[in-house]
Amino acid sequence: MGFFKNLFIKEDRRTDLEKIDPEKIPKHIAIIMDGNGRWAKKRSLPRSAGHKAGVEALREVIKTCSNLNVQYLTLYAFSTENWKRPEEEVSALMNLLVYYLRNEIQELNENNVRINTLGDINKLPNTALIEIEAAQKLTRNNTGLTVNIALNYGGRLEIINAVKSICIKVINKEIEVDQIDERYFSDHLYTKNVPDPDLVIRPSGELRISNFLLWQIAYSEFWFSKIFWPDFNGEYLVEAILDYQGRDRRYGGAK
Ligand code: FPP
Repeated sequence: MGFFKNLFIKEDRRTDLEKIDPEKIPKHIAIIMDGNGRWAKKRSLPRSAGHKAGVEALREVIKTCSNLNVQYLTLYAFSTENWKRPEEEVSALMNLLVYYLRNEIQELNENNVRINTLGDINKLPNTALIEIEAAQKLTRNNTGLTVNIALNYGGRLEIINAVKSICIKVINKEIEVDQIDERYFSDHLYTKNVPDPDLVIRPSGELRISNFLLWQIAYSEFWFSKIFWPDFNGEYLVEAILDYQGRDRRYGGAK
């Protein structure tokens, strides 16, 4: 609990923290946790060791977000395309998820963190589903940081599923076609009731979106870094937030 209160910023970087404008904290930060495999390869370790180290980074980022009063943190943990990876890696990732939830959920709950998922989670192994359900149930009424874990998530599939469910409503004459607007459409996505991300972070040097929150990122700000996800920490998060706070968001309007 006391550990949780640490801001994970080294003394000599505290000045960066002080530069953060508390009035302009991004409400929603979304992260593509990339580079675990390359981090492991650089150390001649198996890819699963990279994912394990990635969990440490994510623990720190969750705590820092919580302490900075970020409201939503969305983590891209497993995409609809990740099933194509070797079976051994898929099962290592699922085991990590189970292990993480089992070991961290009490502390997350004590710190008012709410756990949620985005994606078609029914395709996940039962062991994972059991932990997810327990974590969601336990933290359901928490009012602090909401952590959305994207699992078996794909932005295109999310949009197709929304289109299908709206079509069914039209066919059943529950709504008129003219009633479909952006708000209505958004309410059919996994992120119903979640504001769009203000800031999307992708480490590891890749400059692409990889099917992540395609609809929701229409006006998001992006922050890219060459460091691999396992090396990410609270200081990088502060750097990204400071950068974000210096941006001029116009949403298509004029200056
Ligand atoms: C991308 O790195 C990372 C993933 C596909 C998995 C991310 C998962 C975790 C950090 C841990 C599990 C999550 C939870 C919520 C406990 P990569 O393997 O594509 O790296 P590479 O591009 O260097 O090969």
